Amino acid sequence: MAVRTLLKMGDLRLYQIAEAVQDVQADFVKEIIGDMYDTMLKNLGAGLAAPQIGFNYRIIIFGVPTPRYADINDVPPETVLINPEVTVLTQETESYWEACLSVPTLRGLVARPTHIAYRGYDPQGRLIEREATGFHARVVQHEMDHLNGILFPFHIKDMRLLAFEDQEAFQELKQRVREGEFI
Ligand code: NI
Repeated sequence: MAVRTLLKMGDLRLYQIAEAVQDVQADFVKEIIGDMYDTMLKNLGAGLAAPQIGFNYRIIIFGVPTPRYADINDVPPETVLINPEVTVLTQETESYWEACLSVPTLRGLVARPTHIAYRGYDPQGRLIEREATGFHARVVQHEMDHLNGILFPFHIKDMRLLAFEDQEAFQELKQRVREGEFI
């Protein structure tokens, strides 16, 4: 187990289509997952996809409580999904200021469907099938995107809504968005 270097936006390895895992119970899969947890915990992430630490496989993890998302409590703890599939269950979307360990210090307002179903395998080969709403649905879609070479900024319709979060002006921007200025 090891904390790995996070690949950042601009690294072409983040833009590949990740490969399906043939044997979900293989030892190398467990090693990758261990490194993903170590790296996510060290960096206070809410989720991580294997390509973000340089492994081009369809593996995602999410749901570790982190102070960065203290207000979020609707995500099941410590989920591993191998070869995940997502089905959108509604036309309704919601916008949220997303962040990503591969896009440090930036946040962007991303609209995503609010209700999904997903399925995938855990490292013991058991099928996980769930429905998700709210932040839970968002984090699954965000991590799933990583497996298809997509980072959250690709979804932003108005690039003024991609912003550095470590500045006071960001609070003003968020307030203006709440007031409907950018709709
Ligand atoms: Ni991400």
